[in-house]
Amino acid sequence: MSVTDKKLIETAKRARERAYGQYSGYSVGCALVDDNGRIHSGCNVENETYPLGACAETGAISAMVVTGGRRIVTIAVVGGYDEPATCTPCGGCRQRIAEFADDETRILMIDESGEWTEHTIQSLLPSSFRLPTA
Ligand code: THU
Repeated sequence: MSVTDKKLIETAKRARERAYGQYSGYSVGCALVDDNGRIHSGCNVENETYPLGACAETGAISAMVVTGGRRIVTIAVVGGYDEPATCTPCGGCRQRIAEFADDETRILMIDESGEWTEHTIQSLLPSSFRLPTA
């Protein structure tokens, strides 16, 4: 089952509208399609105790894992203070994405004009941490 990029981007934008980002004022939405063809989304959820805030990617990845998904086929991210704008995944989220990504995984960053740029985990996070095999 394939999901069009357009549908994924719309889902990320809708997720962003639900962001709980009242401390930074910055809203992020994320949507991914997994190896079962399911779409999962997340938004940033901040906390009055600032370090407890969670990124949008974290929520989408958790939703994937709990339904049995184990591989990200395509993931779309969008941020912005007011209007949707480019948001590059933070360092921690790159590592989170890397856990469930491979060389074919597509990472879409949506820009102001509604277009997107496409990236790989290798380009965003070369030499990601991996436990040495015993
Ligand atoms: N944020 C995300 O949700 N994902 C990212 O990859 C970058 C940053 C959120 C965290 C915080 O709620 C807000 O954006 C500002 O840093």
